[in-house]
Amino acid sequence: TILVLDFGSQYSHLITRRLRELNVYCEMLPCTQKLAELDWTPKGVILSGGPYSVYWDDAPHVDPAVFELNVPILGICYGLQEIAWTFGKNVLAGEKREYGHAYLKIKRHGDGEAGGHVDKLFKDVEDDVEVWMSHGDKLSHLPEDFVSVATTSNAPFAGMAHKTKPLYGIQFHPEVTHTPKGKVILKNFAVDICQARTDWTMGKFVDQEIARIRALVGDKGQVIGAVSGGVDSTVAAKLMQEAIGDRFHAVLVDNGVLRLNEAKQVKETLTAGLGINLTVIDASERFLGRLKGVTDDPEKKRKIIGNTFIEVFQETAKNIAAEAQGSSKAGDIEWLLQGTLYPDVIESISFKGPSATIKTHHNVGGLPKDMNLKLIEPLRELFKDEVRELGTKLGIPEELVWRHPFPGPGIAIRILGEVTPEQVRIAREADYIFIEEIKAAGLYRKVSQAFAALLPVKAVGVMGDQRVHSQVIALRAVETSDFMTADWYPFDGAFLKNVSRRIVNEVNGVCRVVYDITSKPPGTIEME
Ligand code: XMP
Repeated sequence: TILVLDFGSQYSHLITRRLRELNVYCEMLPCTQKLAELDWTPKGVILSGGPYSVYWDDAPHVDPAVFELNVPILGICYGLQEIAWTFGKNVLAGEKREYGHAYLKIKRHGDGEAGGHVDKLFKDVEDDVEVWMSHGDKLSHLPEDFVSVATTSNAPFAGMAHKTKPLYGIQFHPEVTHTPKGKVILKNFAVDICQARTDWTMGKFVDQEIARIRALVGDKGQVIGAVSGGVDSTVAAKLMQEAIGDRFHAVLVDNGVLRLNEAKQVKETLTAGLGINLTVIDASERFLGRLKGVTDDPEKKRKIIGNTFIEVFQETAKNIAAEAQGSSKAGDIEWLLQGTLYPDVIESISFKGPSATIKTHHNVGGLPKDMNLKLIEPLRELFKDEVRELGTKLGIPEELVWRHPFPGPGIAIRILGEVTPEQVRIAREADYIFIEEIKAAGLYRKVSQAFAALLPVKAVGVMGDQRVHSQVIALRAVETSDFMTADWYPFDGAFLKNVSRRIVNEVNGVCRVVYDITSKPPGTIEME
């Protein structure tokens, strides 16, 4: 196991992800983790980047025991500063910001005085490579017994290594895809230098998570969690069901803005198909009642839906807890499951650094304090594609595993303007046709997310020799790997023509269809 100590960089989780891609098992813990509290010994340690300067009085530092472990250590960005600070204290040139691409020149030492091991980090990497920089401080000179192993035009010590010990520091970020050889560098460190095993698989993740959940919850504890029918909540729910069976209570809140026939379909798949203990609550009227009259404020829609959701969920949780009390299942419900993924975490939590809050995603951090529930988030470290792999391992049907993501506020944020039952009907029917055609054309998996949005304007058309004045549907389909940036999908004309024809003909109240050709950024995937 490789221990990743997190100093809070926006890229920290990418380190763990890259290691998992190398089939290396790692655990990421806060940078202040006391080693004495671990019941395992890492084969190597990676110190992440972070938004601090080691100069600051309140700058975090690792447990000094890390440096006494005598295992290889790789410091990335702030991690390099941390190593330099530990071994040299006064080696920093002060704050000088550097962001973006840089060219790295690798300095090889051969078997000279520095010893052969200092070259190991850059094995199979060309002498000149592109890297991604994002840092404040830089080194002015090397701490004692370190040698420079890489430079950039701006940083004479963009990489350093200890002459005799397996200690390495790099100023750039190997974990981001903008550093094309980054994965080779991480592999050199984890596999060659640390000799970590490369036998970790998603199957092992399942076993580990199930064991972790059982240990956390105990043999009486009960867990409640909302499911939406999407891949994240279903995978999280299935994992809980495997771990604790019916002591996991799944709740599907029908908020009236789900897709066409969705509540029914989800119920069938989760209960009959996956054996999950599910309660479905139809609260459509309550939601739609509260959305009435909200015309021009997307964040207000999100808040109404988020708050109403919490209210309904809380009521349901109370009822389920009361029932559980009366049955043989002992104990109150004390845990809440959330299917939060890593990208949700960074898009929603604004940190000191550049990942500021973009939208208030209602499935993150919306936990009411008075519920007194402890949070379980088994997918918190994973990215979407990893969750899909996990879902497949858990025997979740293909169709569900590959389902496009669907936002918590549902089609309410795809109905621009007021959400009324009639608008919901139009948006739902158009969306259904669009998705049906995407599937029929064999494109569902190529497109990362697609939907029909309903614009709050009317246009003129002519249908059956009659002048009509009705609404406009905007189709949106994007390709993306991480949902943080996205490009619109280049359907061919014949496909769009067919979808447009069907929607105008089959959906009452629509006379025009347009296709959204905005990438993210500057657009977002959803329209609100
Ligand atoms: P945006 O629109 O921010 O969407 O580009 C990125 C991804 O997040 C989904 N999304 C949401 N999911 N609650 C959710 O659970 C929300 O409020 C929300 N807003 C956007 C969106 O569907 C896309 O997959």
